[in-house]
Amino acid sequence: MSATTPQRPSITLPRLAEMRARDEKITMLTAYDATYAAVADAAGVECILVGDSLGMVCQGLPSTVGVTLESMCYHVQSVVRGLERVQGRAWVIGDLTFGSYQASKEEAIRSAVILMQAGAQMVKLEGGGWTTDTVRFLVERGIPVCAHLGLTPQTVHALGGYRVQGRNDDSASQLTTHALELQDAGASMVVLEMVPAALSTQLTQQLPTCHTIGIGAGNGTAGQVLVMPDMLGVNLGKTPKFVRNFLQGHHSVQEAFAAYVAAVKDGSFPDNTQHAW
Ligand code: KIV
Repeated sequence: MSATTPQRPSITLPRLAEMRARDEKITMLTAYDATYAAVADAAGVECILVGDSLGMVCQGLPSTVGVTLESMCYHVQSVVRGLERVQGRAWVIGDLTFGSYQASKEEAIRSAVILMQAGAQMVKLEGGGWTTDTVRFLVERGIPVCAHLGLTPQTVHALGGYRVQGRNDDSASQLTTHALELQDAGASMVVLEMVPAALSTQLTQQLPTCHTIGIGAGNGTAGQVLVMPDMLGVNLGKTPKFVRNFLQGHHSVQEAFAAYVAAVKDGSFPDNTQHAW
């Protein structure tokens, strides 16, 4: 398959803010290699997340806990090279891996610098509360940050499984507090994973400068993300309920990605049956 990328301006933080201001949904997909990153870019996907889901997708691990910063770097470099080959415009986010940012702010910046030097334009880290100071520290030093709240897969063992978060009043209020603190600390994006739609919609209104990107969180967010192999219907495990198979009814991967972009933009994905609860 050849990825033919139309000439478009590169995605930057100001461009994402402009999209948000005109209520245009932001599209994000995970990618882990050069080819799929280039095809996603050609299909119009604005943000590519080199997620630590690569542990399950590429490495056959049972969770994201075993992914190392070194392997994350390898995949970020592969994605960035793929985008460079096609003069891609997508914004690239690299996941800070489990154990690479928890010990101290200094450890977090060392890890973030490694990902940025590999070509990431933003780093993502999981959790709220204790992460706020780390996010502020990174942002003040010129590193754009995407936060990740709700179901945070790196802490799956502490959470007791892959479960919807923020369902009761206490956890919804804690999630809201964490999200507001992260916005205040300078996070420009927050992934909301497996959060009730009403809560993620409300958070989107409360977070004007921190774009909410939902996954299994309803369609009231500023954008959506999916794990790419899931939305192509290729998955070693159980496909989450909120995923749609976009390859069905399409003749190529690029068409499937374009259908995803179109469905997110026109608000038809996710619909009311594609949520996590
Ligand atoms: O690693 C990943 O792919 C992610 C998505 C589930 C958002 O964090």
